[in-house]
Amino acid sequence: MEFGLTEEQLMIQKAARDFAQNDLKPGVIDRDSHKKHPTEQLKMMGELGFMGMLVSADYGGTEMGTLAYTLAMEEISKVDNSCSVCMSVQNSLVCAGIQAYASEALKQKYLPKLASGEMIGAFCLSEPEAGSDATSQRTTAEDKGDHYIINGTKNWITNGKHAGVYIVIAQTNPELKHRGINAILVDADAEGVTTGELEDKLGIRSSDTCSVMFQDVKVPKTNRIGDEGFGFKFAMKVLSGGRIGIASQALGIAGGAYELADKYAKERKAFGKPIGEHQAIGFKLAEMATQIEAAKLLVYRAAWLKDNGMPYDQAAAMAKLYASDIAQTITNEAIQVHGGYGYVKEYHVERLMRDAKITQIYEGTSEIQKLVISRNIRKGNLYLPVGEV
Ligand code: CAA
Repeated sequence: MEFGLTEEQLMIQKAARDFAQNDLKPGVIDRDSHKKHPTEQLKMMGELGFMGMLVSADYGGTEMGTLAYTLAMEEISKVDNSCSVCMSVQNSLVCAGIQAYASEALKQKYLPKLASGEMIGAFCLSEPEAGSDATSQRTTAEDKGDHYIINGTKNWITNGKHAGVYIVIAQTNPELKHRGINAILVDADAEGVTTGELEDKLGIRSSDTCSVMFQDVKVPKTNRIGDEGFGFKFAMKVLSGGRIGIASQALGIAGGAYELADKYAKERKAFGKPIGEHQAIGFKLAEMATQIEAAKLLVYRAAWLKDNGMPYDQAAAMAKLYASDIAQTITNEAIQVHGGYGYVKEYHVERLMRDAKITQIYEGTSEIQKLVISRNIRKGNLYLPVGEV
């Protein structure tokens, strides 16, 4: 087995780490406290190539591949998860979805702007009454010959306020159930598109999460992604890639908390020596480090499978399930290592603990990941698929 990273992957990892530590860290507490959208920071991320990592160079992307994207997500998530969730939705749901399944005209129209960060995209699947049960879409896209008329409300939309384009999942033919669903690109400035109030969230507080409403929005049929009725499969396929992005985010949160705890344990003295030299803290750090290494193997493996054109739904679900769980445990323990200092904003770990929670919820809850895994293993895929399945 080969566990090494290429020169290029190491370079991207370092570039993302330097950017996160030098450019994101200084203002992150202020942005989180005051729910300030990281507009400038996202612009810089676009300029550095972090917004189009899965987009081909033909459409202005950096074409770095999923593993490199995972490494960059991880470093950015050690510091600012309002930025990394935007990066994840932009890369793995919006850009990857358009690149893999949209028409040439749509690719040319949207990908260069999205890959450069000039335009932000959003993925509109969840609804007030359709979260985990994603086939129960109530938003409609009525077929009017050469165009659709879209009506409905989407909930919890990451990038909802700042997006220039939405991928909207909507029901066209309810008789066909999930096979009557379409995925349609809707410009944010189309008549009839409005957004709700920003959600006041526990974590990822400076990312713009809100409802998006569609009232009699007219969209040309050419904006549909893929064939008629492909929308639900599109959402499922794209979400499997998205889950690698969120697993990387969770891994980054865990890694960031661990690094802070490790540093503190070396500096802080109690009973005559650094607290890390006391077994109570040393063992905590040992457990944290082991969990992070295990999560890395799952996350990088899922990315590697995707990069190598192999089935990765199950691997992505396992990676997200495990990484988001250990992000909970590790951020909690990192606060414990810091004692009272961990409970205040200045030391960063309390923010990481608040950010960790959402990774067990969005892009498929932990329960949905277990459903995906259990259905896969019932088919006999007990181990991660490597070749034929
Ligand atoms: N790839 C391709 N097709 C797939 C698929 C996959 N990974 N998973 C399912 N499908 C297909 C099935 O083959 C089936 O199609 P056919 O009937 O034509 O064969 C169809 O989809 C329906 O599948 P199921 O019968 O399995 O549907 P279900 O209702 O039992 O369960 C589910 C599906 C896995 C629970 C799905 O609804 C799901 O993933 N729910 C969670 C939704 C989710 O992740 N939401 C996140 C919102 S986006 C977000 O959070 C972004 C953000 O802003 C951060």
